[in-house]
Formats: sequence, C-alpha cells, structure tokens
Amino acid sequence: MRILSLGAAGFIGSHLTDRLLKEGHHVTGLDLQADKLTDYLTHPNFTFLRQDIRSPESNLDRLIQESDLVIDLIAYANPGLYLRIPLEVFRLNFTENLKIAEACVRHNKRLIQFSTCEVYGRTAASLKNAQLLNPEDPIHATFSEDTSEFILGPVSKHRWIYSCAKQLLERVLHAYGLEHGFNYTIIRPFNFIGPKIDYLPQQAADIPRVFSFFMGSLLTGAPMKLVNGGTNRRCYTYIDDAVECCYRIVENPGAVCDRQIFNIGSPHNEVSIRQMAELMRNIYAEKFRENPAVPLPEIVSVSGEEFYGEGYDDSDRRIPDITKARTLLGWEPVWGTRDTFERTMEYYVNEQCEAMTSSLAGR
Ligand code: UGA
Repeated sequence: MRILSLGAAGFIGSHLTDRLLKEGHHVTGLDLQADKLTDYLTHPNFTFLRQDIRSPESNLDRLIQESDLVIDLIAYANPGLYLRIPLEVFRLNFTENLKIAEACVRHNKRLIQFSTCEVYGRTAASLKNAQLLNPEDPIHATFSEDTSEFILGPVSKHRWIYSCAKQLLERVLHAYGLEHGFNYTIIRPFNFIGPKIDYLPQQAADIPRVFSFFMGSLLTGAPMKLVNGGTNRRCYTYIDDAVECCYRIVENPGAVCDRQIFNIGSPHNEVSIRQMAELMRNIYAEKFRENPAVPLPEIVSVSGEEFYGEGYDDSDRRIPDITKARTLLGWEPVWGTRDTFERTMEYYVNEQCEAMTSSLAGR
C-alpha cells in the first residue's frame, strides 16, 4: 500500500513507520522535523516531507489523493500544552485534523485517526456525589468504545479542551460515516510508552509526560514530583504491543475496522503515579545506577496548579476495555508493567551514556 503518515516523526509515528516499512509498504511521512526517523531517511520505500500542515503552501490534498491509506497522528498530546496554549491545541487537534478528514472524504480514502483515551475523562467514582457500593471496583474505571459515557470538568479547567477537541473530531468522523459512507477507524491509545516517548525535561522545549520527568530526575538527582500526591492511575502500554494492534488495524482483515473505534491499552498494567515513581526508582537502583553512593532522587508532592498552572484537572483512573481488539483483531498485549518500564528506561540510560561519551570525545 501507499501509506501517507501524518505526524510520522512523533513517538507512535516513528515506531509505526518502522513496522510499515518492514511489512513492505511505501510510506510518505510528513512532519515538522525528522529526529525520530533518522534511521529510515534513506530507506528506498520511505519519503520524508518536512512540512507544517498549517502552512498555506501545504500540498496535503494532493498527497491524500495519491495515497491508498491515510494515518493521522498529528496532535499536541502533552497535558502541559493544554494549559499553556489551549487555543492552539484546539486549532491543531480539531480544525487542522478536520481538514485532513475532509480531504479523505473528498477523495474517498480510508483514514486511521489517532484520538485519545482522554475523551473518556474522569470516572463516575470521582464525582463528588457518587454513591457507589464499591468505588474501587475497576468496573467504574473500565471504558468501552461504544457504551461508556464521557465525564469532563468545567470550562474553567481548560485541560479538557484537548479531550473536547478530540471528541468533537471523532463525532464529525462518525457523522461523515453516517451521511457519506466515509471509511475511518479511530484509535484511542491508553498511555503508550517506550523508547523515544518524549525528550527529557532538560532537552525539551515542550513539557513532556510523566515518564520523562521521572527519568530526568533519576539521571540528574532532581526530585521526582508527584502532582496532587500521585494518586491518579494509568495503564501503561508498551509500544511494541501498541504497534502490533495498530498494524492489525492497518491490515483491516475482513474490513472489521471500518467505521469502528478501538481502545488500545494494557488493562493489567495499572499503576498509580506514586507507584510508578517508586517502581522506576527501584528499577533504576537495581539495574542502571552505576555508583550506589549517589543518592536516588527523593519523591515529593506538588499541587497541580504549582506544576502546570491554573486550569489543571486530571483523569483519575482509566482502564481500557479491549474486548473489541481481542475479538475482532485477535490482539492481546503481552508486556507487563515492570518490563515495560525497564525497557523504556534502558533506552534513556543508553542515550544519556552516548551523549556523555560524544561530548567527552568532542572536548
Ligand atoms: C496524556 C495525554 O493527555 C493523553 O492524550 C495521552 O493519551 C496520554 O498522555 C498518553 O501518554 O497516552 P496523561 O496520562 O495525563 O495524558 O499524561 P502525563 O503528563 O504523563 O500525566 C500522567 C499523570 O502524572 C498525571 O496525573 C500528572 O498529573 C502526573 N504527573 C506528571 C506527575 O505526577 N509528575 C510529573 O512530573 C508529571
């Protein structure tokens, strides 16, 4: 297939590009920069286009017309940005993505749209007046693609603008499916993690996700900060598991993915952010710390406002119901929590060593 991958140089896009090329597809990858794709730039089946789809010069329409399948990964997906530039988060994640979808409708192309588990928002158990028999029962935090309600905070908590933008995009795709027979598949990733997830805070212009903050702390000794005590929970999904499922969606056996939404996530890998900090610290001490005399970073608590600024709110807990991916695609995640973190941390430890070696060699 000739696949157009928009946002190909991001974390998910770079891993997916690797798989698509291995499977023999021709990939045109479009992104602002190619840092995470340097291994593929000379691959005979890969074309990289350094382009901003927001630019008036963008030839997106022609690129879509010439492809067999469009994969849209373009997004601002880090909570720090929802707080800092909410309007731009809306524009990119809704307005610009809508242009891509509408071009796919015009040219009758199948679209795989990456959305987010953030559309589900908070759990019923988190509501102030919730009167649940057992609020801890995972059933209250297990989200299903076609039946779960979405629970978001007030407008003044502008973290939710991202969730809303993605939700609206999903609803518009659904409507195009109904009215025009548009063929799309929506993917809702549940905290994918692995090599290249984000730059570490000391290298990044953006505010990265929690893994990178904690990894940065382990490498520099700065405190690991738990936002609001680190009680919120996430299910971390190793990128190899995630890409396996994404690739099955690309293949779309028997057209089972047509006009469907899929959760992709590892329901058994649930951790609180505090548990994650402790686990990463233990793994670091056991596997990667070179000098046991150097103290491990302390774990401290900060408020959401202090860490992110005004307008912060959070998903308290989210567990993917993956029955659909299991039954329609025969997919099952295999990576457990510890291995997922260990393998991801190993990448950053090695990267740091390489950076130190090359800066010493440059002296
Ligand atoms: C983000 C995005 O909003 C999702 O769209 C995306 O799907 C998801 O990442 C993902 O990686 O898949 P979130 O899990 O909230 O969602 O992102 P993080 O920034 O990694 O935050 C996770 C939790 O850690 C939050 O409770 C946050 O407050 C906390 N945190 C973050 C800390 O306790 N300490 C930090 O240093 C950073």
